[in-house]
Amino acid sequence: MLTIAIPKGRILEEANSLMIKSGIINEEVKEGRKLILDDQVDDIRFILAKPQDVPTYVKYGVADVGIVGKDVLLEWGEGLYELMDLKIGLCRISICGKPDKTCDRGEMPRIATKYPKIASTYFREKGQQVEIIKLNGSVELAPLLGLSHYIVDIVSTGRTLKENGLVELEQIANISCRLIVNQATYHLKNTVIEELVNKLEDGVRG
Ligand code: PRP
Repeated sequence: MLTIAIPKGRILEEANSLMIKSGIINEEVKEGRKLILDDQVDDIRFILAKPQDVPTYVKYGVADVGIVGKDVLLEWGEGLYELMDLKIGLCRISICGKPDKTCDRGEMPRIATKYPKIASTYFREKGQQVEIIKLNGSVELAPLLGLSHYIVDIVSTGRTLKENGLVELEQIANISCRLIVNQATYHLKNTVIEELVNKLEDGVRG
């Protein structure tokens, strides 16, 4: 049996369509309270996890492969082997803020984000000194409340920004979901994993 770690929510919806199209599963993986779902027909076990925990399940080998956003990999997925770009979960990671408010001259810009590593790397490479404030979600609150001048966050439809009167100022990276694998498992279950990749490649192309 192959074990796949997959995030709940938006990514699961798109992954379901892709996996059905690819002929990997016949029925959608249903999101509910149950966190381990065995698909006996297709011989696959799904672990429904928080996105940022998917790399951990794969790294420790309790999941053979994982489906996860490139944002999560950049922030928490060091050393994991990326097998393919699944071309789902398309979004971008951007610097956003109020349309009118900029930082006062001489003031160190404060950046609120769920992604301190991505944000600090980006500003360091630009040679810009900033203060990073780590939040765990609803990051858009920070500039509205004056906690930060800007945020570094995911923009997908742009609705969250719009509804909170914020704008996208600069794109840092384009994001999509990747198939990741544990190196040891890759050698151990090579045939099954290669078969999965081939099917997914057909699904992505089709
Ligand atoms: C993500 C992201 C933005 C929002 C962007 O948050 O952090 O807040 O989605 O999507 P949109 O452009 O389609 O509006 P998520 O839904 O993961 O919740 P969180 O803020 O609690 O992390």
